[in-house]
This record gives sequence, structure tokens and C-alpha cells, in this order.
Amino acid sequence: MMVKVKTKTHFLCSDCGDSFPKWNGQCPSCKEWGTIAEFKVTGKTNASKRISPLKESRSLSDVLSENPGKRYATGLHEVDRVLGGGILSGSLILLGGNPGVGKSTLALQMCQENIKTLYITAEESEDQVAMRAKRLGIKAEDLHLSGENEIHSIESHVSAVKPQLLIVDSIQTIYNEEIDSIAGSVSQIRECGQEFLSLSKQNNVAIMMIGHVTKEGTIAGPKMLEHMVDTVLYLEGDDRHDHRILRSVKNRFGTTHEVGIFKMESDGLSEVTNPSELFLAERSENVPGTAIFPSLEGTRPILVEVQALVTNANYGTPQRNVNGFDAKRLGMLIAVLDKRMGFAMGAKDIFVNLVGGLRVDDPAADLSILCSIASSARDQAIPSNMILIGEVGLAGEIRSVGQIEKRLQEASALGFTDALIPQRNLNAKTKKMKMKLHPVRYVKDSFRIIF
Ligand code: TYD
Ligand code: MG
Repeated sequence: MMVKVKTKTHFLCSDCGDSFPKWNGQCPSCKEWGTIAEFKVTGKTNASKRISPLKESRSLSDVLSENPGKRYATGLHEVDRVLGGGILSGSLILLGGNPGVGKSTLALQMCQENIKTLYITAEESEDQVAMRAKRLGIKAEDLHLSGENEIHSIESHVSAVKPQLLIVDSIQTIYNEEIDSIAGSVSQIRECGQEFLSLSKQNNVAIMMIGHVTKEGTIAGPKMLEHMVDTVLYLEGDDRHDHRILRSVKNRFGTTHEVGIFKMESDGLSEVTNPSELFLAERSENVPGTAIFPSLEGTRPILVEVQALVTNANYGTPQRNVNGFDAKRLGMLIAVLDKRMGFAMGAKDIFVNLVGGLRVDDPAADLSILCSIASSARDQAIPSNMILIGEVGLAGEIRSVGQIEKRLQEASALGFTDALIPQRNLNAKTKKMKMKLHPVRYVKDSFRIIF
């Protein structure tokens, strides 16, 4: 008997990954133009596969007793902390990062003796990965390697090996043979992502998918992949620095904004347990334009050095250049300096840099950034034993910030003696800190103390 192969046609948006029955110039979901393209699914296995049995409902206590949500500790404490206490069984994790940043290295170092792992290495050969594992000193007897990159074959491997952790390196090289497009295309990433999602839930296996990042900084392929998974991690870093930052931007089982800090060395990634020391290592003291800000990344305080340089603009429109902080927020701080403090900023080039590649979106950094700009403009250094904390409002007022005790503790532990803090943060708890506190209400009060 001839099996009739039915081909279904969909139209997919390459930006958000939504699918539609017909083509459109503009995506009805994300409103992007020119992102919708056709793709075909041959339905040969669909008839037998898609009609799933009715799932019975169960009571909460039954679910809890059957699946208590086991967490596995990986070989890296920093990763465990970012994940919220280890890898949760049955969770789907996406690890993104630029090519060469160290994603494969990190994934390999996570493999532990006590976790049965299947590592799908679709980019490098099994030999290459094995050699790297040997060089990194990975002692994981129960680590299985496979170069398979077809999704159904991977599913068969999972049934055979029954791993607790499946690493997919990378999602852009996995394909589904039923789909008529190349690996790495939106439709393939979308379908394979869906398959891994059901695989993780059905087999209670934790899956970590590695994904490359595009120039715009998002994971190549549909944004939908990020919506689908439980946890999204980004490994960041650049060629100029050897430290790497692991950031969780989404986590259904832990807090976000948690960061893990590593150093890339000849024998792999090593964990940095005291990041403040790393970020302040090459600090220039008593130089106008620098300020120290105790940032809070997730649950952990990290001291960062803010540098500003203000110079006369030589050509046309003055430049505003910022690294590690929101450019619009910088514009607002410059406006406050200009309007409230009488600094003529209109004809100045302003450069701001958070040293070490850390990115901060905490308004508590406002005061340190504003003061470092003022310090450079006045050519007067901020005392080197002082840290600055505070959100700056449009009226030049200084607003209170969260978790100030943690920030002060870290600064005090690293030998800072003075802290400029918002007046409203002064309370019984902060008064007990072993630091000289300078509570301030307005930007002008802080200038009186610093300069
Ligand atoms: P890799 O993990 O292959 O990056 P990704 O998977 O994100 O593309 O890491 C590649 C870089 O890391 C490469 O430039 C070499 C460097 N590296 C080290 O410096 N030390 C090491 O021990 C390893 C394994 C890699
Ligand atoms: Mg890799």
C-alpha cells in the first residue's frame, strides 16, 4: 500500500517565531516587516505520533511525592548559584554566548562524576571533546559523547543511555529530518526546541541547549526559544579580558540577575570567588573621574570602578559614549548636572566606562556615575577610600536604594572607610556599619562632601 505523504505549509516569523497560515508583509505578532517566510512540514509520521493519549489529572500531593524536583550539583559552584542551587531535573536550560566565549568549555566542566550525562557534540568531533575533557581533567566516568545531530536519533540515544543531564552543543546544528529546511533556520530551531522541551518533561531529564548569539546580542533563531525554556543563561566576556560573566536573564526556579564570575585560563574556566578584588585590581587611585560603586548582582554585592572622562568637543555634536550602563539614563544624569548644578555640558564629549565589562542597570549607580563625571569636569579626585550609592532624580534629589547593608558590608570588607548614601537609607541597621556614613539629600550636598 502506498503511504500518502501530506505536506503542510506554514509561514514563520524569523524574529518572534510565531506561525501563520498565510504570508504577510508585516508580522501580526511582533510587527516586524519582511520577516515572514514559508516552510514545509511533511506529515508522514504525524498521524501516528500527534494523537497523544489523554493525560489524567493528579492531585498536588501525588505530583509532589512522585517528582520532588531533584537538584544536581555541577562541578562549578558559580553555575549552581546562578541556577538557584544546581541543575533541576526535567528543566530546560538555554546557554547563550558569542562564538569562542567558552560555552563548550563551561558545559564540559559542569559534567560531574555523579551525574550521568549525554553530551551531543554536533559542532566538534567526539575526539576533540574527549581530548579537551582530558586536558581539563574532567573525571566523569558516566559521560557519554555523541556526534548525532538529528533530533529523532538524539531521542533514541536518550532512551538508550537514560542520562540525567543532556547537553546539546549547539541547538543551531540540530535538525529534524521531517522539516524541509537547513539546520540553524528558524523553523528547525523552533521545532527542535519544542522536541527538547517535551523530551525534558517526559523523561525528567535536565537539558542544556547551547546557542550562539547574533551581532544584536540575542540568541540566533526565534526569540521564542527563550520563552519556551525554563532558564536562560548568557556567558559574556570579550577578547580583551580573560574573565567571563555568567548571567541568568530568566529563571523559573531561582532568582534572575544572579551572576557567576570566571577566569578563562589554560586549564579551562576557574571560579572567581571574590569578584570585587578582580574588578578593582587595576584601580587607579586619586585620579579625577573615577568612583567606586557597590553594585548588587542578584544576591551578591560586587564593587565596580566607574570611570568618566569629560573633554571639550572638537567636532560638531558632542559625543556621549557609555559602556556598561544605559545611555538614556546617562543623558538624564548629564542633564541634572547641567541644569541643577550649573555644569556647562553642552559642548563637552563625555565618556563613561564601567571597568571590567560589567553591565549595571541598577539606578543606585546614578550617584557614582554623576559624581565621576563631575570629578573629571572639575579635575578633582573623589577620595579613594569612599564609595557612592544613590539614585538621582530629575530635581537633583537623591533617592533611597535597596539592600544597602549588603553593599556596605562588601565595601567595608574590602577596606573602604567612607560611604556616601541617601539620607533615607540611614537607619538603625546602617548606622551599625563599621563605616563613616555621609547621608545626603541632594546632589549638591554630596559635592560639598566630596570636593
Ligand atoms: P569554547 O568553549 O570552544 O567556546 P564556545 O563553545 O563558546 O565557542 O572556548 C573557546 C576559547 O576558549 C578558545 O579561544 C580557547 C579558550 N580556552 C582556553 O583559553 N582555555 C581552555 O582550557 C579552553 C578549553 C579553551
Ligand atoms: Mg562550542
